Amino acid sequence: MRGITVRGCGISLPDKVLTNDDLSATLDTSDAWIIERTGIKERRVGGITSQMGAEAGRRALEDAGLQPADVDVVLLATTTPDALVPGTSATIQEQIGVPGGAFDLNAACSGFVYGLVVAAGLVAVGSGRILLIGSDALSRITDWDDRALAVLVGDGAGAVVVEPVDGPGDLLSWNMGADGSLRHLLKCDHGGYLFMDGKEVFRKAVRVVVESAERALSDAGLQPADVDLLVPHQANLRIIQAACQRLGITEERTAVVIDRYGNTSSASIPLALDDAIRNGRVHDGATLLLTGFGGGMTWASAVLRWRA
Ligand code: COA
Repeated sequence: MRGITVRGCGISLPDKVLTNDDLSATLDTSDAWIIERTGIKERRVGGITSQMGAEAGRRALEDAGLQPADVDVVLLATTTPDALVPGTSATIQEQIGVPGGAFDLNAACSGFVYGLVVAAGLVAVGSGRILLIGSDALSRITDWDDRALAVLVGDGAGAVVVEPVDGPGDLLSWNMGADGSLRHLLKCDHGGYLFMDGKEVFRKAVRVVVESAERALSDAGLQPADVDLLVPHQANLRIIQAACQRLGITEERTAVVIDRYGNTSSASIPLALDDAIRNGRVHDGATLLLTGFGGGMTWASAVLRWRA
């Protein structure tokens, strides 16, 4: 049996910071409304998916003490590829100089957790190390005159190295789901802008994320009390708080970066994970519960043992 462990973490963010006050200058909104309804104070914009992904990937390799040649596959979770064809993972592969395979995965904001499970599957059938990257530039598919969406989104990328180990490894359980009958709730047609039915997404998101997280915990034979850190998708602070409350996991045991970065889709979970690691919140052997939801609708959770 071949399992996985996760080694190294890196992120990338565009330099341009857009505050709530910046948005209020052109939109009928306010810092107070955005903070109260979403928990977001500022976000980064102007990112390019491939550039951010390559930088995060390089930093994850550096953090793991590895060279590009030590990796077999670049797996990019993204909702905002640079182009329809080729996959943006190919650009990243070339920019970093990784030999081997490269492919994109689109499961919207659940993409990073889906990617972790896919990476574990590749390892189980014999792959070497996989550079798993979540990178998204939602600012590029946002109508900046649409206040409902403009206040929510941001750009960023995060990456980890997924490494084969003998035995069951550190991915203790996982859960993935989708309900395509809800795809109208969150969508972007070719050449168009992101559309979202915010209220409906909110309602469904809390339910699916809690159910998925509970299933993953139960499959790992664990209770909410066993979770050292919940690393949720960062779409809205109120969704995170509602999920925490229903799961019985305190906010002190939850990674939150939405105040600084907004909703960065596939990047939000690795951005939150990296922040928790840099702030000394993830000890050796910690039990992490990663959980996300997004367009599709899709959802996914994973219970991961962290090795420092
Ligand atoms: N600034 C000021 N007012 C705004 C606003 C903005 N940016 N956007 C909407 N409003 C107004 C609405 O027009 C409405 O006015 P009305 O009462 O006069 O009709 C009022 O604020 C309340 O709007 P509502 O849509 O009920 O707010 P909400 O509490 O549901 O919050 C979202 C809106 C989008 C923040 C929230 O629904 C949400 O976060 N949904 C989920 C989003 C999500 O998770 N997306 C990503 C999935 S991966």
